[in-house]
Amino acid sequence: MHEFMKRLRRDHRNLNRLFDMLEEQVARYDMDSTLEPDLLLILDIIAYLKDYPRIYHHPLEEEAIALMVERDLGDNSANELIHDQHQKLEQATERLSTLFNMIVNDQPVPIEQTQEALASYLEMSRKHLQAEEDRLFPVMEKVLGNDEWELVASRLPEGLDPLFTENPDDAFVELRRRM
Ligand SMILES: [Fe+2]
Ligand SMILES: [Fe+2]
Repeated sequence: MHEFMKRLRRDHRNLNRLFDMLEEQVARYDMDSTLEPDLLLILDIIAYLKDYPRIYHHPLEEEAIALMVERDLGDNSANELIHDQHQKLEQATERLSTLFNMIVNDQPVPIEQTQEALASYLEMSRKHLQAEEDRLFPVMEKVLGNDEWELVASRLPEGLDPLFTENPDDAFVELRRRM
């Protein structure tokens, strides 16, 4: 499997772990929970979810999709769906981040609103990763060879080639350490 493909699949595993962590933390706001939510951890997870996909993960997928569209490879409806989901996800992550920033700043946010916002965010995000694993990744693995991936890499925004970033997993490792 090409390094980029491995990278994308590893990102998905990391993201799914973070979704579970976030869910577990926010569940602690429930009255009957004996555990206190770790608000700083929640904020760090959201900060990661806001930056990492937008800066590294989505551009790689988007450039790969763009090349597939250009060469008429793969399933166009899947390509369009994924592209559309990226935009909606980035907006949803912004909204979630705003909501938690209000909470940190002691602005009154009903807990039901937070839980609902998180639940719909998680559903949307998990569905997105699943859609890619079902409909996009298998096709990418089939139609994109070394040459294609090289071209994709050359089109990534400068300095954002995830394989050449010093330690792209550092932020995740740090979060995981605190699980
Ligand atoms: Fe994606
Ligand atoms: Fe993805």
